[in-house]
Amino acid sequence: MKALVLAAGKGTRLKPLTNTVPKHLLPVGNKPILFHVLNYIKEAGIKDIGVVVSPESGPYIEEAIGTGSEWGGQITFIAQAEPLGLAHAVKVAQGFLGDSPFLMLLGDNLVQEGVKDFLGEFHTSNSDASILLREVSDPRAFGVAELDSSGKVIHMAEKPKNPKSNLAIIGVYLFTAEIHKAIAQTKPSWRGELEITDAIQKLLEMGKEIRSHLLRGWWLDIGSNDGLIEANRVVLDAFLKRDIKGEADEQSRIVGRVEIGEATKIENSLVQGPVFIAANCRIKNSLVKPFTNIRAGTVICDSCLERSVILENCQILKIKHLANSVIGKNAILAGQGKGPGKIRLFIGDDCKVELE
Ligand code: DAU
Repeated sequence: MKALVLAAGKGTRLKPLTNTVPKHLLPVGNKPILFHVLNYIKEAGIKDIGVVVSPESGPYIEEAIGTGSEWGGQITFIAQAEPLGLAHAVKVAQGFLGDSPFLMLLGDNLVQEGVKDFLGEFHTSNSDASILLREVSDPRAFGVAELDSSGKVIHMAEKPKNPKSNLAIIGVYLFTAEIHKAIAQTKPSWRGELEITDAIQKLLEMGKEIRSHLLRGWWLDIGSNDGLIEANRVVLDAFLKRDIKGEADEQSRIVGRVEIGEATKIENSLVQGPVFIAANCRIKNSLVKPFTNIRAGTVICDSCLERSVILENCQILKIKHLANSVIGKNAILAGQGKGPGKIRLFIGDDCKVELE
């Protein structure tokens, strides 16, 4: 069994952040999104891992992952010149995959339960594909599966206008090598992409059996700013432990599950967990409220922050209340400690915002 992670694509809905960092390397909790996905593969015991990257994201992702020794396996990077669809990515990876069955994961989807149990079920079946499904209120933005009364998959459609069920296909798939034959017979969709959903529908038409597994825990599809904030809320809430490596002075209070990295200094401030603060930060005369993720080298002074993601080396000075925000690397936000109540910002790397 091999694993294939799809981490190409343009990350359009996360611009301008994704102009300078691939979406898959944005942080959720204490690590990049992609590292969570690689951890699922490690837990499932798969050691031969292919990662599909785009020409833009490739160098960043390769540098972040390195040799892959952290995941106990061998990582092969596979370049996809254009994001022409999930099935196109599989086609590009065919040389790596050979005739092996494989687990395919989207590099921007997180699932509470991981993938180990899902994999176990597949091994004991005769199916040529297995998909994870989850009930959603509006399935039109996803691939949608229709099941018969016995729970058998009978039809699949990509982002249908009139969905036949409320079961969205989530970014975790298992395939035998039969999928390559189905992809060879699949045509690009109305959006010009070679859809994996259409290829699985093709497998059904070829008379193959498709299994499905209903996910009950959470599922996070991190395609937008709000998706990134929500993913941080859920993951910080679910997994963060209290671990304080930096220093807090006597005037400061660190309440609940807070992780503070090495050489970070907290002065005359209140930090209310769940909050992650990376290494080499300085938090002074400030209030850091729950579900905030502050990356390395950032300085926060005379400010209040809540439910936000602040990337590396930012300066946030005299900002009365920053909430539900995403701030790119090296950004400077400078206020006067007054003005409007809460502000909500989505800004890219190297920006400067001054509030009068
Ligand atoms: O999130 C679940 C949905 O993911 C499924 O319900 C859909 O059936 C499936 O088609 C997919 O839809 P999206 O439109 O959300 O896919 P997106 O373009 O966001 O790409 C998902 C991941 O795959 C993302 O990490 C980028 C990567 N990708 C995407 C394309 C189009 C590639 O590696 N290569 C590509 O060509």
